[in-house]
Parts: sequence; structure tokens; C-alpha cells
Amino acid sequence: MSESRGQRRVGIVGYGHLGQYLVRRLRMDGLQHGLELAFVWNRDASKLEGSVPAELWLGKLADFSERHADIIVEVAHPCIAQDHGEAFLKAADFMVGSPTALADVGTELKLREAARQSGHTLYIPSGALWGGQDIQRLDDGGMLQALTVTMVKHPDSFRLGGHLGELVQAARKERKVLYDGPVRKLCPLAPNNVNTMAAACMAAPSLGFDGVKGRLVADPDLSDYHVVEIEATGPSGFSVSSKRKNPAACGAVTGAATFAAFWSSLLVCQGHGGRVYLC
Ligand SMILES: NC(=O)c1ccc[n+]([C@@H]2O[C@H](COP(=O)([O-])OP(=O)(O)OC[C@H]3O[C@@H](n4cnc5c(N)ncnc54)[C@H](O)[C@@H]3O)[C@@H](O)[C@H]2O)c1
Repeated sequence: MSESRGQRRVGIVGYGHLGQYLVRRLRMDGLQHGLELAFVWNRDASKLEGSVPAELWLGKLADFSERHADIIVEVAHPCIAQDHGEAFLKAADFMVGSPTALADVGTELKLREAARQSGHTLYIPSGALWGGQDIQRLDDGGMLQALTVTMVKHPDSFRLGGHLGELVQAARKERKVLYDGPVRKLCPLAPNNVNTMAAACMAAPSLGFDGVKGRLVADPDLSDYHVVEIEATGPSGFSVSSKRKNPAACGAVTGAATFAAFWSSLLVCQGHGGRVYLC
């Protein structure tokens, strides 16, 4: 935390749905939580006009260190963590809002190492993942044998390319499984839709992106919520299943409860040392 101000300074990278929500909450409620806005960066700066005071605009992302942020929050695109995550972690804690970025082995290793060396924390927001810390505890204790995350959404809520895009078209009439396999391969195919699965992989490093199974399902009957199901199994018949219904406007990629979940995650980011921390 910056000693001079006594507030924890937050840099926001990305000014889409989540970025705008977080900036609004920081400006409205930040001070009572010991948080203040250090900067806002967006690829297209004109989007900040009229809603963010000019002195908070960051022109070039490479100049982020001039603003002395204590925590930097990415809510833009997986390429930000891949290209700038290491530099962020050398200077500040970093909450990676697009954890599908970490399905790239080089990026995951680089960021884990940067956190370890700098003493800053790489935060992974739980998003729509229920029981992430329980999963982490099971994994820490060597008790987690298998983990499957199933995400079911209306076909309009997917942003998919390639053959998954074609499959989703076929799911307009009936429920279809679009993918069933390791999360690692799914992340580049559906980077905006499977952040919750990526968070689960980071919570369970013994299985990781190759061991955690992801199932992506399109269901034309789910017009006003998304479903996330988690199934964890351990030794001697141990198992836990959960099913979360996340209200979402028809066609929305991000469920409504996820916005509030991101704010709660940010409040947890008080500095937990040089490691990965699910928040
Ligand atoms: N962790 C989770 O559970 C979770 C939940 C929802 C969204 N997300 C992720 O958070 C990010 C933001 O989500 P959102 O709903 O605010 O999205 P959005 O599309 O509303 O906003 C994205 C913002 O990032 C910018 N952007 C897009 N591509 C970029 C690029 N290549 N380089 C730099 N900037 C770029 C856009 O201009 C826009 O301002 C996305 O990557 C999304 O996948 C994660």
C-alpha cells in the first residue's frame, strides 16, 4: 500500500462491461474500503471520455509504473496478461480477470515465477466458480483426484470460433455438448466463455489445465441464466457436486452475479505475498 496516501491504489486495464463496473464501484465506494483509483487504461481511450476524469487516463500501458498502483486489475483480453503480466507483477499485485490466458504454459510459468521473485501476488478471481477455496484446500492436501467443470449457456451467450462456432449453430434447436475434454485445449477456442474453468485449473495445480476436465454445453432453453456445475472426487469414494445458476440477460456472455463477484474479489486483494491466490 502507498504509505503516503494510506489507500491501496488500483489500476484498471480494460474499460468494457467489467472495467466500467469496477471503476464506478471504486469511485463510489472505494475510499470506505481503503481503495482509490490510480489509473484506467483502455485500448481505445476515447471510450473514457465523459466518464473518467482525464487525470486518471493512462495513455500508454507501458507507462503504468508512473502511477504507482498497488494492484493492477486486467479486465480486457487474455493477451494483456501474456504481454504485460510479468512487468505488472514486478511492480504490483496483479488480478488477472481473463485467466484463460494462463492455459498458455509459458505464461503460467512466467507469472508464477514473477510472483515468487517479486513477492507480489497473482490473484485469480473466482468469478462464477463455487467452492474454489475448498477445491484449493483439497488439492493442497493431495486429496483431489479428479475435477470436472460443466458450463451450460444459451447458444447466443457463446463467442466461439472455428468448429465450435458451427456446433453452436446446430444447438439452436436442441441441447448439445460442444466440448468435453482437458481445459487447456478449450481455452484458446472459447477464451471469453471458460474463465471459470481456468480459475478451477489454477485452484487445482496438481491437475492443472491438462488434468481438469471441461464440458461446454449449449442449451436453447436457458434464456435467462447460465449454469456452472462442479464435480470433485477424492479417495475412498469422496465426492462433491455443486450446481450454480447465474442469472444472465439473454445473449450476455457475463452473468449478472459475476460483476458483484469481481468487486468482492478485488476487496480480498490486500497483498498475500509472492504466490497465486484465488480471491
Ligand atoms: N474471470 C471471469 O469469471 C470472467 C467473467 C467475465 C469476463 N471475463 C473476462 O474479462 C475480460 C473483460 O470482460 P468484459 O465483459 O468486460 O468484456 P468487454 O468486451 O465488455 O470489454 C473488453 C474491453 O477490453 C478491450 N479489449 C478487447 N480486446 C483487446 C485487446 N486485444 N487488447 C486490449 N484491449 C482489448 C475492449 O476494447 C473493451 O474495452 C474478458 O477477457 C472476459 O473474458 C472474465
